Amino acid sequence: MKTVGIVILAAGKGTRLSLPYAKPLAPLQQKRMIDFVINSMQEFLDQTNLKGSFGIVTGHDRLQVESYVKSRYPSAQFAFQKNQNGTADAVRAYVEQCDFATQVDYTLIACADTPCLLSEDLESLFKILLNEHKEAVAATFIDENPTGYGRIVRGKKGFRIVEEKAASYEEKQITEVNSGLYIVKTDYLLQRINNIKAQQSSGEFYLTDLFEEDAAVSAVTFTHKNAFLGVNTAEHLQKAELILKKRKITELTQRGVRFIDPRSTFIDLDVEVGKGATIYPGTYLLGKTTIGTGVVVEPGCFILNSTIEEGAEIKAMSHLEEVYVAKSAQVGPFARLRTGTKIGEKAKIGNFVETKKADIKAEAKVSHLSYVGDAEIGEKTNLGCGFITCNYDGQNKHFTKIGKRTFIGSDSQIVAPVEIGDDCFVACGSTITHSMTDGSFAISRGKQVTKQNMAHRFLKQTKNK
Ligand code: UD1
Ligand code: MG
Repeated sequence: MKTVGIVILAAGKGTRLSLPYAKPLAPLQQKRMIDFVINSMQEFLDQTNLKGSFGIVTGHDRLQVESYVKSRYPSAQFAFQKNQNGTADAVRAYVEQCDFATQVDYTLIACADTPCLLSEDLESLFKILLNEHKEAVAATFIDENPTGYGRIVRGKKGFRIVEEKAASYEEKQITEVNSGLYIVKTDYLLQRINNIKAQQSSGEFYLTDLFEEDAAVSAVTFTHKNAFLGVNTAEHLQKAELILKKRKITELTQRGVRFIDPRSTFIDLDVEVGKGATIYPGTYLLGKTTIGTGVVVEPGCFILNSTIEEGAEIKAMSHLEEVYVAKSAQVGPFARLRTGTKIGEKAKIGNFVETKKADIKAEAKVSHLSYVGDAEIGEKTNLGCGFITCNYDGQNKHFTKIGKRTFIGSDSQIVAPVEIGDDCFVACGSTITHSMTDGSFAISRGKQVTKQNMAHRFLKQTKNK
């Protein structure tokens, strides 16, 4: 098995982004920018059967970046670049500090600020390196407004890259630009990296000097420049967010998901949606969410890190966070399901219902205006309108358990901890403070007192009646 060292350059400051933290940690979807770069590399490794090791070059806000990356990718190694003396200097730090750097067959170099990279582009690039027997390949694209990018100057055999600062007037007119993504044979990298000279003007070492017009190097032009977007400003970050979302919606549409209005639908890269699902406008499907086949998500829903099984319906304006909804269940409109909620098969959660850590079993119904927290509600049990679990005594949370086929009348409260058995009946307006055994009936409300002809005492008198 061939091996590849994957270098991600993440030492720069990212001044233009004006964020309170390091640029590689810029928020993107529910993750950070660097996650997307690492993900596309991991996908590339899976597709090519290469064994990869990650080396992240850090500098500015080093500890922040390292602790984040370590927590998610424990096998990644880090190289510290003390002063940001340019991209070649960053790669030197990697070669010196990551123990696998000189051992691997190939070295793939990418920047932490290119979150839209596609693994299939990495694969095409790699194939060209192998099939055309090149020492190194660089991904390029055409930009009609190339300002800021290194320009590609093609020679008879290879090519060189001239940076904006050093480019002549003629070279500045070139629209083919360097994306900053390279795959290099490690031997070639090791031969050249230490010979790269500092720029006279800035003293920086440019990695782009790896490429020469008479070397066996290839510049591979890609037509979809969006994939190579370098995020330097807040506008670029917004653009990256849109590119990723649009890409995801196109992919799902091709797999049979119906989006009524893709422009107003927001969907993260890791979300899975089954065939025949319909997603209405104004909906957010975020994080690790899975939506089953045929599910309907009505307008204005927010669904984060949740699983919705086949045939379920999430009605308008519902908010779901870390919940599980089983097959053919109904939720909403205007439902709020919080962390740890499980909704059973064909169960029904109606409008203005809030749940938290609630295990609501199959075919149970909580149809209107209720709070169910820290509770288990048995199969086919019906909780009437205005039901409340009083689960919090100001210091601790307490559990409520209600059995199967039980009927709880409207406007009832359970002062937890309480356990109510199967087939029970609680009369409406009751405050239940004691547990009930299977089949029992409970009523607990103030006795009604009615006095004939007495209402006038309490009504406001109108003059001249
Ligand atoms: C670089 C390329 C340019 C290309 C462009 C694509 C060079 C000399 N130029 O320019 O040809 O068109 O990317 O976006 O390589 N970094 C370090 N240490 C350093 C300097 C940079 O780790 O000392 C990291 C940065 O954090 C960033 C990446 O390298 O992730 C690229 O650096 P940046 O300063 O953005 O290079 P560009 O000027 O954009
Ligand atoms: Mg850049």
